[in-house]
Amino acid sequence: MQDKQRQILVTSALPYANGSIHIGHLLEYIQTDIWVRYQKMQGHTCYYICADDAHGTPIMLRAQKEGISPETLIERISDEHQTDFKDFSVKFDNFHSTHSGENQRLANTIYEKLNEKGHINKRTIKQAYDPEKEMFLPDRFIRGECPKCGTSDQYGDSCESCGATYNPTDLKNPVSAVSGATPIEKESEHYFFKLSDFEEMLHKWTRAGHLQVEVTNKLDEWFEAGLQEWDISRDKPYFGFEIPNAPGKYFYVWLDAPIGYLASFKNLCDKTELNFDEWCKVGSDTEMYHFIGKDIIYFHALFWPAILEGSGFRKPSAIYAHGFLTVDGQKMSKSRGTFITARTYLNHLNPECLRYYFAAKLGAGVDDIDLNLEDFTARVNSDLVGKVVNIASRCSGFIKKRFAGKLSASIHDEALFKIIVDANKNIANAYETREYSKAMREIMTLADKANQYIDDHKPWVIAKEKVRDEELQSVCTMGINCFRLLILYLKPVLPVLAAKTESFLNIAPMQWQDAASALTDHEINKFKPLMTRVEKEHVDAMVEESKEDLNVSETRQAVLTGPLADDPIADEISFEDFMKVDLRIAKIVKAEHIEGADKLLQLTLNLGDETRNIFAGIKSAYAPEDLEGKLTVMVANLAPRKMRFGLSEGMVLAAGPGGKDLFILHPGKGAEPGMKVK
Ligand code: 2FM
Ligand code: ZN
Repeated sequence: MQDKQRQILVTSALPYANGSIHIGHLLEYIQTDIWVRYQKMQGHTCYYICADDAHGTPIMLRAQKEGISPETLIERISDEHQTDFKDFSVKFDNFHSTHSGENQRLANTIYEKLNEKGHINKRTIKQAYDPEKEMFLPDRFIRGECPKCGTSDQYGDSCESCGATYNPTDLKNPVSAVSGATPIEKESEHYFFKLSDFEEMLHKWTRAGHLQVEVTNKLDEWFEAGLQEWDISRDKPYFGFEIPNAPGKYFYVWLDAPIGYLASFKNLCDKTELNFDEWCKVGSDTEMYHFIGKDIIYFHALFWPAILEGSGFRKPSAIYAHGFLTVDGQKMSKSRGTFITARTYLNHLNPECLRYYFAAKLGAGVDDIDLNLEDFTARVNSDLVGKVVNIASRCSGFIKKRFAGKLSASIHDEALFKIIVDANKNIANAYETREYSKAMREIMTLADKANQYIDDHKPWVIAKEKVRDEELQSVCTMGINCFRLLILYLKPVLPVLAAKTESFLNIAPMQWQDAASALTDHEINKFKPLMTRVEKEHVDAMVEESKEDLNVSETRQAVLTGPLADDPIADEISFEDFMKVDLRIAKIVKAEHIEGADKLLQLTLNLGDETRNIFAGIKSAYAPEDLEGKLTVMVANLAPRKMRFGLSEGMVLAAGPGGKDLFILHPGKGAEPGMKVK
């Protein structure tokens, strides 16, 4: 079924060693793992390589915050990551770390080659510096007011409110997110990689079929803008590798991260008989693929091939970028409970359900993928439980009870069986080209046909007539054979279900070429339930747990050490959303203590034409007698909320750090109950 045995090296982006794996990461690891498992089933030699991306300022600061060494931190996170991956059946052939001897040696060799050939430049630049912490500040660690729109607390590189991009030096009233000090400007010598030396090569390479069309088009914009020198050094203190012959200067994390792909592979080669040089030399007849998210294309499609070219290594065969994951149509959000870590998911649901759902949504392009939780539940239940597993449960009982587990000697419906066998080519092609959604659709169409066959032949009816035993055995054998092929086709996606099926069918691990044969005259084992339905309560419980889990740091976000670290800013809302809030002047006609309430006061508010009952958490700052007769501001269109002490019909605005320092608003002259607050 396969032509030539291929030798393939596959990577997924290396996860940062300062945060948990979440379902956004899993989209990529599952996509890659499916591809690798498919290649292995085809009999190709395929190594799936990964490592933790262990260097950089955020990791250094997080370790400091925890009072441990970065080495201890990255070791702990590596264990956590590897357990998560294992539990999702993401099976690496090697998982290493960028903070390793192999990576340091390779990074040094590559850098020295680039330097020898004149591809490294040195020049002095000015950068923001935290005088208290005595460190240069990456853009993400400086916050201040946007120079364009004035919004406060913006990052040093872009404004989340108006979208402006700028230099950190442009921020008004900047502060260091590390210490709170006002940054100063300081000069330092930096090392740059001269990307433009490779412009011609990159121009050709990016158009030679190594990239998706959308990616090539995006790169055109970057070529037009001109390829800039890339700053590959950082000053101490920095957690990384010191640059050879440059004391106090470190390789920027993004320089040694992709080198980490090769270093992890080198680590595998050294443990086995594999020849690293044969795989990585220019002109090697092996293949190398990098699966990545679309946010890191620049690093992989420009810097990385240029670095490899400049240092005499082979370039990737292809780079496969995917889109971002949204949940219920929106960016993953901690407050909505859709920022779901791998572990939280595993606490509630079967990992194979997510693997299947992602497969059912993934194509070869860079479009974003939406995990719609309702659709997820419905799709998994209908396809996997309702269509696929159901075939086995409809047929296996009769085989076991009536025929001592023995399948009949021939295939009952040769024509249908041939359709299912022949489909293997299209399905294989869909896997190979990463069109998994197409593969899943095709498999489910076959499952429909198999179920139709069972519906037509009604084994439960035949079973009632003893004289039709032979027919019963044939029909059920046919059903089991359909099921076996469907599971074979699903095996790259559902390795656990496949393994359980192999043990139920009493067969060796299935390879793609096994699709050509039938399972006849063979004894199978007792059927045990292979997969259970996804229950809505479990999905809801997972979302609830994710809401509670608000301290999990987003791995692609800078580590903050101020209040934002523990209480991150909520998702952006539009101006239209904001305008929906109807603020009204209200008169506090009555304020009372509530028996049994520590924080709440009960307020009766007059809005001119109507009166509202409101429970406000301001007891620590106000006595009822201070409030009665005063005007304040309330949210008048908030849906009433049932609370322990009764129904609260709106909300009084109050702000402050808490305790005695909590302040409600006192509108000035001219304010009247019911008036809209502008
Ligand atoms: O964006 C990220 O999460 C990086 N840690 C990916 C690195 S991929 C490779 F270059 F190592
Ligand atoms: Zn702005």
